[in-house]
Amino acid sequence: MTELQALNPIFSKYQLDEPLNSHTQGGSKIADINITAKNLQIAYHPGKPVFKKPLNFTIHDGQKIAVDGESGSGKSTLLKILAGRLTDYTGDLQIDQTEIKNMDNSTLRSNIVYIDQTAYLFNATMRYNLELGQHFTDEEIKSALEKADLWEFVSTLPQKLDTPVGEGSASLSGGQKQRLALARGLLRNRKLFLLDESTSSLDKAGAIKVENDFLNQPKITVVFVSHRLHKENKDKFDQIITV
Ligand SMILES: Nc1ncnc2c1ncn2[C@@H]1O[C@H](COP(=O)(O)OP(=O)(O)OP(=O)(O)O)[C@@H](O)[C@H]1O
Ligand SMILES: [Mg+2]
Repeated sequence: MTELQALNPIFSKYQLDEPLNSHTQGGSKIADINITAKNLQIAYHPGKPVFKKPLNFTIHDGQKIAVDGESGSGKSTLLKILAGRLTDYTGDLQIDQTEIKNMDNSTLRSNIVYIDQTAYLFNATMRYNLELGQHFTDEEIKSALEKADLWEFVSTLPQKLDTPVGEGSASLSGGQKQRLALARGLLRNRKLFLLDESTSSLDKAGAIKVENDFLNQPKITVVFVSHRLHKENKDKFDQIITV
């Protein structure tokens, strides 16, 4: 119990379910990820707005969106607002008609996965790294891993799901860590995935592959921030939001 409780800050940092609270706390599931921004703007310092112009956009459930713009234009800031981490914005930003700044943490956490540079890997088994203190059946785990394109890899591990991964054991590559983050979210029925430069540490072929793994999930809404939009994937985005 104490050990799990000590982990809560980490779980909350990575917006995962807190192991002790996940079943009681819940948070409400958002039926459709329809996002509307009207005159959205934010300032870290008074009088210094981040976005060149206030943002207006609509994202529909299941869409795959790219956020484009030069360095410092506010891409990461936009993603943090969408994740509910920055709430002192002006204008409106609603998911399914609820203002994001008014959503409670448990609702945000049970719907949204925010992935930046590296997915957090515990020094534990592959199964633990997926379940994170919750319980899922082998079927559920297999299905999530298949969708995330990790099942083949896990099948080659000596003890399959029960193989230790993380430092000093079978380690995961950068791309596999991103897929692990996808599998964790799919297992928990998360609907909105926000990726900030999460493939930037991978080589081009690896990055395109991971992006494809996200783009090919019909049921989730994905917002990608990348300083390089790969032309191989550009057509697969439903919309490009320029900040
Ligand atoms: N925590 C913060 N406090 C103050 N200013 C910040 C903070 N975070 C970002 N900024 C400023 O806000 C602006 C937008 O930053 P942001 O990180 O959103 O840009 P970005 O488009 O993601 O850039 P990059 O492509 O380099 O990642 C920049 O001018 C940055 O200096
Ligand atoms: Mg950024």
